[in-house]
Amino acid sequence: MYNEINLDKIDINADPPAEEPARQFYFMAKCRRWVRDFEKTNGRLPKACVTTFGCQMNARDSEKLRGVLREIGYAPGTEEDADFIIYNTCTVRENANTRVYGRLGQLKPGKKKNPNMMIGLCGCMMQEPEAVEKLKKSYRFVDIIFGTHNIYKFAELIAARFESGQMVIDIWKDTDQIVENLPNERKYSFKSGVNIMFGCNNFCSYCIVPYVRGRERSREPKEILREIERLASDGVSEIMLLGQNVNSYGKTLETPVTFAELLKEIEKVDGIRRIRFMTSHPKDLSDELIEVMADSKKICRHLHLPVQSGSTDILSRMNRRYTKEQYLKLVEKIRKAMPDISLTTDIIVGFPGETEADFEETLDVVRKVRYDSAFTFIYSKRTGTPAAVMENQVPEEVIKNRFDRLLKEVQEIAAKACVVHEGTTKEALVENISEHDENMVTGRLGNNLLVHFAGDASLIGKYINVYLKECKGFYYIGEKTEE
Ligand code: SAH
Ligand code: SF4
Ligand code: F3S
Repeated sequence: MYNEINLDKIDINADPPAEEPARQFYFMAKCRRWVRDFEKTNGRLPKACVTTFGCQMNARDSEKLRGVLREIGYAPGTEEDADFIIYNTCTVRENANTRVYGRLGQLKPGKKKNPNMMIGLCGCMMQEPEAVEKLKKSYRFVDIIFGTHNIYKFAELIAARFESGQMVIDIWKDTDQIVENLPNERKYSFKSGVNIMFGCNNFCSYCIVPYVRGRERSREPKEILREIERLASDGVSEIMLLGQNVNSYGKTLETPVTFAELLKEIEKVDGIRRIRFMTSHPKDLSDELIEVMADSKKICRHLHLPVQSGSTDILSRMNRRYTKEQYLKLVEKIRKAMPDISLTTDIIVGFPGETEADFEETLDVVRKVRYDSAFTFIYSKRTGTPAAVMENQVPEEVIKNRFDRLLKEVQEIAAKACVVHEGTTKEALVENISEHDENMVTGRLGNNLLVHFAGDASLIGKYINVYLKECKGFYYIGEKTEE
């Protein structure tokens, strides 16, 4: 296991080992030599900074990148002072790409000032050949480019850059490999994301994720459990199981396992107090899962269940494989088993061909389900997806109007859903000092809502009973109780 490996004992003059993860430890050791030279010359350690765009998968990948950087010897830095800046990119919507190009342009002058500075790009956007072509042509100052499938090769790519002095590009189309036991650097000491699967096989017609993240692959349950046990012994009490469609977990394993069975095993791990997961695809959410959730003391009463649209016709053209009625029935079943569950969702406005009547169906679902919160997105055309070439793309002004109406509805309902808990006492896991007031801390409730209350850094990572004094729409102001 990685924390038992002493990098300084690795013979870096020998040939690199062929097997993983030993090969990567060899390259980490090799890069360490370069870092030591830097320290001798500059009287300080080089600094690195990883910036994440996109979803929790990417956030978790960034922790893995930081783990490698730490092993190599980089000190943590900011985008202002780092000698090595890595952008872990997202391409789910066009504006995610635009932001990366914008930020990249701003890095260029820094690179002129600091000739040692390196820039790395990785993540979903790099899986798009057009993006890489553009970078090769117009952003020659980038040093390392790699994709989502070979992220575990980070150390090897850094070594290749040091040795060649040239731009290193390594992108794989797909992979069936999962490399275990590499280092990572968690953002929080008390909670962590845990990948249970990678990729996606659903091919929703608007979505680029299956193209940039590849086919669905599940990790072996024993590897997942080992990671969670290790996290628990390291002080982690809340975990978030990550996958694009956790409800289809385990189907492709040699010995298939259901997501519900996996949850039952995870529940047994001592020290884990809260289990969360995302994302659930409605078409695969089983009765077995509802049962396991309802019986569990550790699985949080929160379900993120993206609906995308309320119109059965649009859902069919989105290739979501459920109807409005099936979705509503599922919600009813979940609420019956767990009346206190918090439901959240994702909604896309302006999918090609969406009519006013289709949009009204979406509003109807929002009113019927009464989500605790909803992420609303304007449809973004992604080249290569089936929806990009569909006719009747909806005009911008129409989308804008619908988006505003949807947002208003979602916010009004969420505020009313939030107020229900006002005046009750709930357990919060304290995450950090409040961003707005240094005498307050911010805690997360089981239902995923945040509460701010008076406290100091000594509470971080602790479970505190908090009286929810006042609901502020989508968060609370509370008071620590003596219980
Ligand atoms: N696997 C998850 C979501 C991954 S992407 C799921 O199936 O729910 C997160 C969200 O981004 C999606 O739920 C969807 O609402 C939104 N999204 C994906 N592609 C989009 C596009 N082309 N335009 C707008 N929103 C999109
Ligand atoms: Fe995209 Fe659909 Fe897969 Fe989610 S389930 S990642 S929306 S293709
Ligand atoms: Fe973006 Fe990739 Fe996640 S495209 S949303 S970072 S899987």
